[in-house]
Amino acid sequence: MIWFIKQILGIGMDLQVVPIHKHPQYKEQCCNLINDEWKRSTTARMRSLDSSCDNLPTNLILLKENKVIGHCKLSVIPSMRNACFVESVVIDKLLRGNGYGKYLMITAEEYCRNILKLEVIYLSTKGQELFYSKLGYNVCPPVSIYGGSFSSESVLQCEKIENVTNPTFPCPPPLPKYSFTTNTKTYMKKVL
Ligand code: ACO
Repeated sequence: MIWFIKQILGIGMDLQVVPIHKHPQYKEQCCNLINDEWKRSTTARMRSLDSSCDNLPTNLILLKENKVIGHCKLSVIPSMRNACFVESVVIDKLLRGNGYGKYLMITAEEYCRNILKLEVIYLSTKGQELFYSKLGYNVCPPVSIYGGSFSSESVLQCEKIENVTNPTFPCPPPLPKYSFTTNTKTYMKKVL
């Protein structure tokens, strides 16, 4: 299946997606990759990577010729045992636009379905809606990864498109029902 995905995407056969806790030698590289996008203390970042395990949370890394070029984290959603929340999806700045993000997400979905036996993936994004909609994610109501309920600030402010006179984000075909406001997170989900 992975071979098939690589063929379809037309990308190299030297790619591997693996859980970081099985390959701890890549932790420092992974930390630098994530921190290059979202600056945070190395200690806090390393602690987060150290929590990766066979169940959730799991940090997956994308390796190309023994170099970490991508990362995503699969986190627990306390109220949904059959689902996870994907966070911190990132591809090396120099390698974006080559299909690696798509490959990482498709492989992470396979991992969720086949290894973790999950049925749904949730995520939130501010600006990458088109990337995820191309991968089959649809806008959904917000979910909490902390347990409990949402504060009013954290609730997705999406509106029915017929009510939007001047949408600030163009809606791609797979997202016919909603538009987005630019300063709020958009929650999206995909049934595996
Ligand atoms: N807007 C619209 N379309 C996009 C975008 C975008 N920002 N990024 C990629 N696409 C499209 C591509 O054109 C391509 O379309 P195609 O299949 O029709 O050719 C498809 O999505 C796949 O693109 P890839 O080349 O696989 O994407 P890339 O390798 O550049 O990775 C990623 C995308 C992960 C978003 C990368 O740009 C990145 O690391 N961005 C910075 C960090 C970030 O914002 N991460 C997402 C945070 S949200 C979260 O973690 C849940």
